[in-house]
Amino acid sequence: MFDLKNKVVFITGASRGIGRALAKGFVEHGAIVYGTIRNPELEEELRKDHIHPVIYDVRNFQQAESTLQKIYDKEKRIDCLINNAGVSSNTPASLFKEEEVRKIIETNFEGVFFLCQSYYKLQKKHKIKQGNIINIASVLGLVGTMLASIYSGTKGAVLQLTKSLAIEWANSNFRVNAICPGFIETDMTENMQKKEELKNKIIENIPLKRLGKPEDIVGAALFLASDYSSYMTGQYIIIDGGLTCQ
Ligand SMILES: NC(=O)c1ccc[n+]([C@@H]2O[C@H](COP(=O)([O-])OP(=O)(O)OC[C@H]3O[C@@H](n4cnc5c(N)ncnc54)[C@H](OP(=O)(O)O)[C@@H]3O)[C@@H](O)[C@H]2O)c1
Repeated sequence: MFDLKNKVVFITGASRGIGRALAKGFVEHGAIVYGTIRNPELEEELRKDHIHPVIYDVRNFQQAESTLQKIYDKEKRIDCLINNAGVSSNTPASLFKEEEVRKIIETNFEGVFFLCQSYYKLQKKHKIKQGNIINIASVLGLVGTMLASIYSGTKGAVLQLTKSLAIEWANSNFRVNAICPGFIETDMTENMQKKEELKNKIIENIPLKRLGKPEDIVGAALFLASDYSSYMTGQYIIIDGGLTCQ
């Protein structure tokens, strides 16, 4: 349904979890996918999945432009940027140390901003008159919960960034949208998944009565990357089994 044949897509955090599922999903739909990893040992594994590995740490803001430039040099275009890399924390608000706060903000917010900025500047430089950005936020950018103060703060910030960039760059034919996953079965939620009682309590609260799988996020991303969503910008799609509609 979504023909992304030969569209060039850059996805951060493709080593595992949602990012890997997105990368594989886009490959299956014909896209040329560049996915970031931090561990070079994963390069071969990504290549087997037909994902072009890119070594990049999203906290290295000063390398954002040169990292994207290398893809332009090869492909002459980047049709879609997906900011997926992220970190969470279960630290109580009263116990946070500055270093951990900085890590979460730099990864989840500043890393997203500087990639968006670099992508915009490079599209302009290469005289490409359009752009498409998908930010993976979270339902915790919309609602609060226990032990998520800084994480949910960064995800709320990503949603506001999405809306502001959508307005600021609409004249340049850039679309900027977000996806808000609920509880997805990845390493990020491993601690919760191991606690049987907590996990069951969460599932009980989800109308569809299950946790999400990384693959559950793929369809919305394909839609946002495709021309089927060409009149959509500054919006977010919630994928949470109905959790936040109650
Ligand atoms: N799982 C959920 O329930 C859930 C819910 C809502 C939103 N989300 C969001 O979905 C996104 C993906 O999460 P996930 O569940 O797939 O998490 P995950 O399994 O923990 O994977 C996180 C990914 O982000 C990458 N990453 C972390 N810090 C990075 C950095 N500084 N530079 C580059 N890459 C970095 C990791 O790379 P390494 O392998 O190198 O560490 C990994 O690829 C995140 O933005 C998360 O906040 C997840």
